[in-house]
Amino acid sequence: MKRRTMVAALGAGLVGAGALALHPGQRGAPHAPYFARMAAALRAAGIATPTMVIDRDALHNNAAQVTRNIAGRMQLRLVAKSLPCLPLLDDLAASMRTDRLMVFNLPYLQQLAEQRPAFDLLLGKPLPVAAAAAFYQNLKTATFNPSTKLQWLIDGPQRLAQYRDLARQRHQAMRVNIELDVGLHRGGVADSSALQQMLAIFKSEPLLEWSGMMGYDAHIAKLPDLPGVRSGAFEHATSVYRDWTATATHALHAGATPADLTLNAGGSPTYRLHDGSKTPNEVALGSALVKPTDFDLDSLHDLAPAAFIATPVIKAPPEFLMPNGVEWLGSLARMWDANQRRVYFIYGGNWLANPVSPEGLAPSGLYGPSSNQQAMLGSGAQNLQMDDFIFFRPRQSESVLQQFGDIVVMEAGRITQRWPVLPAMP
Ligand SMILES: Cc1ncc(COP(=O)(O)O)c(C=O)c1O
Repeated sequence: MKRRTMVAALGAGLVGAGALALHPGQRGAPHAPYFARMAAALRAAGIATPTMVIDRDALHNNAAQVTRNIAGRMQLRLVAKSLPCLPLLDDLAASMRTDRLMVFNLPYLQQLAEQRPAFDLLLGKPLPVAAAAAFYQNLKTATFNPSTKLQWLIDGPQRLAQYRDLARQRHQAMRVNIELDVGLHRGGVADSSALQQMLAIFKSEPLLEWSGMMGYDAHIAKLPDLPGVRSGAFEHATSVYRDWTATATHALHAGATPADLTLNAGGSPTYRLHDGSKTPNEVALGSALVKPTDFDLDSLHDLAPAAFIATPVIKAPPEFLMPNGVEWLGSLARMWDANQRRVYFIYGGNWLANPVSPEGLAPSGLYGPSSNQQAMLGSGAQNLQMDDFIFFRPRQSESVLQQFGDIVVMEAGRITQRWPVLPAMP
C-alpha cells in the first residue's frame, strides 16, 4: 500500500472509531416504582386521557417543609396564579395556616371574593382602574368586604390618582399597597419623587388607606452565582424596601409603623432569603409547593415534585419511522442513536413540560411537535406498550395546571379526589 493510501485509511479508521465513540449511549428503563404505582392508581380509577395528577402526600410534605423553613418568622401568602384551583388553595391554606392570597387578574379576584370571602387578598400586579371599577360594579356578595379584605396594588402616582377618583366616585374606602421596584425593573415605584407624589395623594384623600408594600425580588435567584452578585442585589432590594417603607411610614403615620402593614416580598426562588429580620413581614409563594421543573433550584432542594402530567401511549410501533419521502432520515437517526430506535405516539403532547418517566424518553426534533399525538422517542428499554402511561413534569404550574380539566388527586397510592381548576386566564 502506498504511504498516502495508508495514511488515508488510518485517518478514516480513526474518524470511524471517533464517531462510534461519540454515539449516544443507550438510555432508559421501565417506570420506577413511584410511577408504576401512579399508573396503577390511574388505571384503577378508569383514567385514560391526559391528566394532571397532584400527589397530595408530596404536596403536604412540601407545605410542611416550607412552614418549617419560615418557622413563624414571617407570614405566608399563597400565589393563586401558580396554584390555580380553589380546592388546592383551600387545602394549602388550611395546612399552612394562612388566609392570605396573592391574586393576579380580575376574573380570579371576582371568583375569590364570591366563593372564598374569608381570604385576605393582595393584588400581585396593578390592574387598570377600569378593571377595579368593574370589580366593585359586579360584586354581588355582601360577605366579602373589600375595604378590609382587599389590597389593590399601585405602581405609581398616575394610577393612584385614577384609583383616588374611583374611590371618590363610589364613596368607597380602598386599601392600597405600593409596588416597589426593588431591582427587577418590571414595574413599581422606582424613584423617590414618584413615591412623594403618591404620599401626597394618600394624605389628601381619606378614602385611600396605605396598607403596605410589595417588592418582588425573583431576579436575585436568576443572577449569575458569582461572588457578591446575588448578595449585592439582595442588599440593594433590602435597602430600597427599608428606606421607602420608612419614608411612607414617616409621612403617613408620623413614624410609627402600624402593626397591620402588609410588607410582601419574595417568591418561590427567593423566599429563603427572608427571615423576618428586615423590613418585609410576609413572603409570597406558590410554584414551589408543586415544584415544576423550572423550580429545580438549590434554594428549593428540600421540596419534591408534586404535579405530574400522565398520558397514555396511543401507538408503540416496533421502530421509529420518519414519514414517506424522508424515511432514510429515520433510518439514520435509528442507526446513529439507540435512543431513537422506538417511537411512542402519546395522547396529546407539546405541553410546557418535560418527560420524567419512564426514563430516557425525548420528543423527536426530526418528527416535530404535536399537540394531538406527540412522538416520543426512546431506546425501547422503557418497555412501553399501547395504553401504558407516560409521565411529564410541568415546567411551570401557572397555566399548565389548567390544561387538563379537573386535577386528579393521588393519596397513599390511590386516586381520592378531583379538583376543578380555575379557568385559564392571563
Ligand atoms: C408579585 C409576585 N410575587 C410572587 C410571585 C411568586 O410566585 P411563585 O412562588 O409561584 O414563583 C410572583 C410570580 O410571578 C409574582 O409576580
